[in-house]
Amino acid sequence: MKYRSEITGTGSFVPPRIYTNFDLEKMMDTTDEWIQQRTGIEQRHWVDEGTTTSDLALVASIEAIKNAGLDKSDIDMIIFATLSPDHEFPGTGCFLQAKLGIPEIAVLDIRQQCTGFIYGLSIADKFIQSGSHKNILVVGAEVHSKGLDRTPNGRNVAVLFGDGAGAVVCSRKELIDPKKDSRIISTHLYADGNFAKELWIPAPGNAMGAERVNHAMLNEGLQYPQMNGKSVFVHATKRMAECLVHSCKEAGFELSDIDVFLFHQANLRINSKVAEILSIPEEKVFNTIQNYGNTTAATIPLGMNDALKAGVLKKGMLVASAAFGSGFTWASAIWRQ
Ligand SMILES: CC(C)(COP(=O)(O)OP(=O)(O)OC[C@H]1O[C@@H](n2cnc3c(N)ncnc32)[C@H](O)[C@@H]1OP(=O)(O)O)[C@@H](O)C(=O)NCCC(=O)NCCS
Repeated sequence: MKYRSEITGTGSFVPPRIYTNFDLEKMMDTTDEWIQQRTGIEQRHWVDEGTTTSDLALVASIEAIKNAGLDKSDIDMIIFATLSPDHEFPGTGCFLQAKLGIPEIAVLDIRQQCTGFIYGLSIADKFIQSGSHKNILVVGAEVHSKGLDRTPNGRNVAVLFGDGAGAVVCSRKELIDPKKDSRIISTHLYADGNFAKELWIPAPGNAMGAERVNHAMLNEGLQYPQMNGKSVFVHATKRMAECLVHSCKEAGFELSDIDVFLFHQANLRINSKVAEILSIPEEKVFNTIQNYGNTTAATIPLGMNDALKAGVLKKGMLVASAAFGSGFTWASAIWRQ
């Protein structure tokens, strides 16, 4: 029997507390005008002190499992994508697993930053098609707000990021009609580690010396993200457009066959540029960055759930997704919802 993986359930969660650009004006040297003009972001959700990445992921996961019409005991694997883990180790997937109360299943954490969710979806698809697993929970979740430099040194990064979580359940189904079945049709994954230091957090890390982190490094702000924004912008635009074209071609579709584009949300200008390069009508691109900022690995499942709730995305539609992020990593996915 041939198998396909169908996205049977989606869920998402953002912490209730909203920080508008005007709130940020009071906290750091920035303006609503600068943020909106350069990024399109109007507000983001940030957690209160006691909330962790796995807490956000738990709420999103429960919703995804419920929407899939499953019980949590039906899940046989968790794939967790985050760059803002609860702790250095073990992976946050294990903390989520304990909170969900589903012991003795496989848990895999992946570190692909903004591209993490598509990498996770791709891994889930391969496990499901192989026949080894039936229902895989793929989660992307981030708590960025606890790790942002709010001084003038870090303001180019601090204004961009929000907290949130998104989750999907990929379920094993029999492949009957490859053209019509709801299924993950293709995924393409890429990286170029030559650009690893264009967007990274240097410390703590054993490449920093015997101590991994010390007071001098903390004073220098090396525990915070360091970003070459212009380089990220240029590569993101090029790579997202490139991999979308490639994945459509490989899957035997024209770009015009795609009903909805769910791009990673790093900057509204990046997404507009990609749409312009590929002549994609803006109304086919579902953007959420205005409300959430960049939620990294959570962005695409969060957008998927919002698009479904808004009725923009419907069962049977053809969806294309593309993401770009630290690593550099980039990826695309095409699925029938
Ligand atoms: C971050 C980004 C919006 C910055 O835009 P930019 O046009 O490249 O801006 P620059 O970094 O050149 O800074 C321009 C000026 O704004 C200032 N600035 C930076 N951050 C600011 C902020 N939050 N508020 C106000 N001014 C700010 C800079 O100090 C600089 O001032 P100067 O001209 O007096 O030196 C843009 O580079 C970007 O979106 N890059 C991609 C980022 C991304 O996608 N990251 C996530 C990847 S997944």
